[in-house]
Order: sequence, then structure tokens, then C-alpha cells
Amino acid sequence: MSKKITVKTLQKYKENGEKFSVLTAYDCYTAKYLDKAGIDVVLIGDSLAMVALGYDTTNKITAEEMKIFTSAVARGVEHALVVTDMPFLSYHTSIEDAVKNCGMMIAAGANAVKIEGGTDYIISVVERLVQIGIPVMGHLGFTPQFLNAFGGYKIQGKTRETADLILVQAKKLEAAGVFSIVLEMVPEDCGKYITGNLSIPTISCGAGRFCDAQVLVSDDVFGKYPEFKPKFARKYGDMGELILNCAKRFDEDVKTGRFPSEEEVF
Ligand code: KIV
Repeated sequence: MSKKITVKTLQKYKENGEKFSVLTAYDCYTAKYLDKAGIDVVLIGDSLAMVALGYDTTNKITAEEMKIFTSAVARGVEHALVVTDMPFLSYHTSIEDAVKNCGMMIAAGANAVKIEGGTDYIISVVERLVQIGIPVMGHLGFTPQFLNAFGGYKIQGKTRETADLILVQAKKLEAAGVFSIVLEMVPEDCGKYITGNLSIPTISCGAGRFCDAQVLVSDDVFGKYPEFKPKFARKYGDMGELILNCAKRFDEDVKTGRFPSEEEVF
């Protein structure tokens, strides 16, 4: 099996024109499967607020909660880079709070953190984190923590002017030291334009085929989250159906006396 993937490995992938894969995980054993499958980066996304905890937005999860899921995932991963998504308000109140909360994720087992946005404040947070040895993944385009400000799930960077604004922020993040940037829900042309103008890898989350990597929420990939499937997500299986089917068969076996059998008792 391959060696541990680090931020340096991802930079080499970019330089060699090799694509890499990113999936989310929220528990130890899903993380183990992803690691075994050869996924390069396992992200404890704040999407867990919605797909695992049942909230209606990602803004309802706290740093303390993310820490619990981070340590569970980190225990399951041997090879992949483990990245924790910093939740809403965990890095916005001050650089000191950002350092404390991001440091807590590293202490819980993450190798890096992801933060959203590219304003001057965010750049100063990135600079401080990088200075103290915390690798940072950026996130631009549609940034879910800005859902209320965007007025809904809206594609960003549709015009040359708005694509340029994203590029300016991406360049500032790159200069501040982020090791990669997620580009979410931007047109493919915009994804290509930004990728071609950066020397760090871009990770597409609905940003098209020309980014250096692709990320999806694993519950979408496994067919487990029934509420909503974004256009850019691909369902590779039907875990929802599998769980329903197993639960129904168990229910039936219990009620008809077929479970437990003679082999299943002491
Ligand atoms: O929260 C999340 O899962 C994410 C990825 C989809 C990029 O931010």
C-alpha cells in the first residue's frame, strides 16, 4: 500500500499533472474503507451537519462537535491526508480563536484544516495558521457558510468580472500559503481559468473537469442522503436501499422467529 499522503504529495500531483480524489467521511469505519480504496484526501466536511446530524444547513455545527468526528475519522485513516472543515464562527471571531479551534483539530488527528472565503481577514487567518505549521485548504466560489448572504445555493463566477474576483482571492490565498483550494459551484470555464492561473492544486466541487482534483460528499456517492442531490454529484451505489432492505429483513426475521437461529445462540 502507498505511503502517507501529505500536502507535499498533492503539490507533486499538480506538478506532474496527476489528478487526485477527495471524499468526505464522518466516522472511523467509513474512513477506513475510503483509505483502503485509495482516496487521497479524506475530508471531515461540515456537510456532516446535514448528512449525518440532520440539520438543514452546515452552519449549525460547532468546533467541539467537529473535533469528535475528526478524531473518529483520523483513527480510521493510515494513508490519506485528513482535512477538517472548520465550521461557521470557529475562525471568524479573532485570529486567536482561529488558532485555538484549528489547533484543536490538529490535536484531534487532522493533518490540515479547510476554511472558507478570501477576504483580507481570512488571508490574515491563513497567514497565522501557516506560520505555526497548520496546513490550510482554501474554499472559494459558492461557500456554504455564506448561504444567507448569497441568498441560496447559487452558482458563482458566471461572468468574467466575477471569475476575476474569485481569481484575485485565490491568488491572495495562494500567496498566504494555502496548499490547495476547493472551487465550489462555478462554471467549468471559471474552474479552468482559475486552475490554469495557480501553481497549487484546485479541487472541484461542481467546478468542472479541468480542476486538479474532485471532491464529493460521500453520502451522495453512496446514495445515502435522500434530501437533495446536486447536479455535479454522481451516485455510485444505493446505500439507502441497502439499509432499508437489511432493516426490513431483520424486522421480518425477528417477528417470524427466524432470528436468532440455533447457530446464533449460546
Ligand atoms: O462540507 C463539505 O463536505 C465540503 C465539501 C463538499 C467541499 O465542504
